[in-house]
Amino acid sequence: MDVSAPFIANYWQYILTVCIGIIIVQFIQSFYKNSSSTNRSSVDDNRKIFVDNDDDEGCVDDNGNQSVPTDDDCEHIPYGMVRYPNDEMLTRSRHFYEEMNKRRSVRFFSDEPVALNVIENVLLTAGTAPSGAHTEPWFFAVVSNPEVKSSIREIVEEEERINYAKRMGQKWLDDLEVIKTTWRKPYIETAPYVIVVFKQVYGLKKDGTRIVHYYNEMSSSICVGFLLAALQNAGLATVTSTPMNSGPRLRQLLGRPVNEKAILLLPVGFPSSDATVPNFHRKPLEELMVTI
Ligand SMILES: Cc1cc2nc3c(=O)[nH]c(=O)nc-3n(C[C@H](O)[C@H](O)[C@H](O)COP(=O)(O)O)c2cc1C
Repeated sequence: MDVSAPFIANYWQYILTVCIGIIIVQFIQSFYKNSSSTNRSSVDDNRKIFVDNDDDEGCVDDNGNQSVPTDDDCEHIPYGMVRYPNDEMLTRSRHFYEEMNKRRSVRFFSDEPVALNVIENVLLTAGTAPSGAHTEPWFFAVVSNPEVKSSIREIVEEEERINYAKRMGQKWLDDLEVIKTTWRKPYIETAPYVIVVFKQVYGLKKDGTRIVHYYNEMSSSICVGFLLAALQNAGLATVTSTPMNSGPRLRQLLGRPVNEKAILLLPVGFPSSDATVPNFHRKPLEELMVTI
């Protein structure tokens, strides 16, 4: 005797509703699973692209070990920010812009000394920059020793001679014509300080495990932006210079480890009394922003 027939006949609407419900739930679950794995793979892809882009050193060790400096126990604390009245915001933003608009790349320096604690404050300010996963992938060698400055100049000029003669090409040289730079870098010896900026391609734990430094180039560049603003604020001049092909030799000279790569060289001091700069104009607002 078939007892299920009247049961199904009596309750088929409920059974159908439950079946449709189960199918919908499963469909939603599989949709979210797929979309979260797609997101994860795009993050991984970004990371891979980034790691691949790092010209000489990767973030994964020979055994494929990766380590991120996340501190699961890091407490989250309340954050308060000073709230300025609107007119004060306008004044402050205007004043800051006016100060920063006075910043110029200076290539002629006085040898007048600068107090080291000013430089320390400037570097502390640079260190307030944001960084990928708070890895702070930057390090600064502050050089004031005259012999070391001479050695830096020697290395940089030797490479710059070749850069200007062979590596840069006519188009690049033509573009630099207006700035009138040459392979000669006397300011490296004249300025009281030369700050060599290193990006740390990866970090190292005490046990030798590597710490992934996400977006280390971008983070270090932002950090240098803060540094330039802090120098301007302190009344000090610099020129952002790129020691093309000198990086490995500078790293060795300054005794820095292999996970660091010299990215910029900043002579720091006061401009000489006869310093000149090209009479550049900066893009007006309408050429650098759009409101949408
Ligand atoms: C990434 C970067 C690399 C630079 N490299 C050099 C360099 O190697 N030598 C140099 O004299 N100036 C260098 N400069 C400075 C630029 O020439 C300068 O910023 C530009 O001419 C605009 O002038 P300003 O800084 O006075 O506004 C560099 C600037 C940047 C941002």
